[in-house]
Amino acid sequence: MSEENYPIIHYTGINQKVPYDDPDSTILECSISHQIPHLHECGGNGRCSTCRIRVIQGSKNISPPTMKEQEMARIRRWDQSVRLACQCYVKGDIAIQRLVWTSAEINILQLETVPEGMAEERAIAILFCDIRNFTKMAFENSTFDMAHILNRFYTTIGDPILFNNGVIYQYIGDEIIGLFGVAGGTREKNCRDAARAALGMNYAIEHLNQMELVDFDLNIKTGIGINFGKAFIGHLGHPKHKQLAVVGDPINTASRIQSYNKDVGTRILISQSVLRSVPEGTFELGKEFATTFAGHEHESTLYELKGFKELDVQLELQSSMDFLFTNKDEFAEKFYERVFTKAPEARELFKKNMRDQGRLLTHMLGSIVYSLSRPENLKSGLEFLGRSHSRYGVTKEYYPVVLSSMMETIEEQLGENSTPQLLMAWEKALTYVTGEMMKYSG
Ligand code: HEM
Ligand code: FES
Repeated sequence: MSEENYPIIHYTGINQKVPYDDPDSTILECSISHQIPHLHECGGNGRCSTCRIRVIQGSKNISPPTMKEQEMARIRRWDQSVRLACQCYVKGDIAIQRLVWTSAEINILQLETVPEGMAEERAIAILFCDIRNFTKMAFENSTFDMAHILNRFYTTIGDPILFNNGVIYQYIGDEIIGLFGVAGGTREKNCRDAARAALGMNYAIEHLNQMELVDFDLNIKTGIGINFGKAFIGHLGHPKHKQLAVVGDPINTASRIQSYNKDVGTRILISQSVLRSVPEGTFELGKEFATTFAGHEHESTLYELKGFKELDVQLELQSSMDFLFTNKDEFAEKFYERVFTKAPEARELFKKNMRDQGRLLTHMLGSIVYSLSRPENLKSGLEFLGRSHSRYGVTKEYYPVVLSSMMETIEEQLGENSTPQLLMAWEKALTYVTGEMMKYSG
């Protein structure tokens, strides 16, 4: 068949048209083969919904929804124009839009699983973070670009929530509230995720203070409180403007725990219910406090959270993402230079545009870091990646070459931010990633 006879897929967001040149490939596979970044966390298994697209034109030219798609659309209340790219085959021209762009957006998808009305009680970890006087300081300071700095600031404190499987419930003035476990998950995982988010926020704020706010004489201080318990959760409000609503004593208590930081001069406090959710010795703790909150008859014990006792790979990786991929093209260029020096014959395996390939690689690495908090998706995602690498002609011997080249590039790019702990975390994660992919190589 000549190129003109293939159906055309028009990606409207980037205004790119590509031929659908393999009738056995899904829309997702077509994106990948044309080097169009398209998130697919579960590796095309119809589970994660990150490959979702909106069909703008030509819906009749797409195969009917599979059972997996029908089930997903029912639970998430999608209209008919939303489809899973990993489940769709194409018969004629179509125009589509990819709906999930960044790894951070993935967690917003969890909100689709929250029922209409105040229907369900769910066990969640709740994180309150208060930023002492930041907006006041910012508004008083007329010398800098407020909009820019406020946006940077909200991203800095919001990202650690999203990257750890949480959802942002609300920003109220100087306060941000994160919820962990809205779509399920074990008690231990939800509390660990919340603790990691709190530590990640502190880390990110320190970084912001040192790198961006120092010239403005601003120094943000935070207080974070984490609690775990059952709360009623739902979507409430006007039919045209429904909002996530969470109600219950554990929420109020989390807010009070957060405030208590001010009384005792700590940065992160967790409740006993959080501490009991994880095996003994998980957290590195500081001081312990006993207090009775207003409206409670019992005394509560609070613990100062200082860190994880053992290396937490995800926390390390997340805190390095900002400076590691500041210049993604440079990262990829240096990485491939190393691979081709060590294994010159690997060069022939790469048939397409190397700059785009580099972008796909760093996009994938970022998405892998954040999907470490969704291991069930990550495993099948790596199976998919491993199988496609086998088709690209990649054999087992190449994996150690790629692993060592990547570690050397990471160390170089981290520069003075490099620590033995950080390198150990990257090595652990990449050994896992290549090990999983390698299982499927020929
Ligand atoms: C950490 C492990 C690796 C990651 C995260 C990774 C990531 C990627 C990604 C995202 C793509 C774009 C296409 C796709 O998504 O299927 C790709 C393509 C490719 N990768 Fe990898 N890769 C890894 C290991 C390797 C190894 C060990 C080799 C061996 C030399 C290799 C060679 C290739 C080749 C030949 C292509 C296709 C390029 C083309 O068609 O021009 N990759 N890789
Ligand atoms: S649902 Fe399509 S990739 Fe996960």
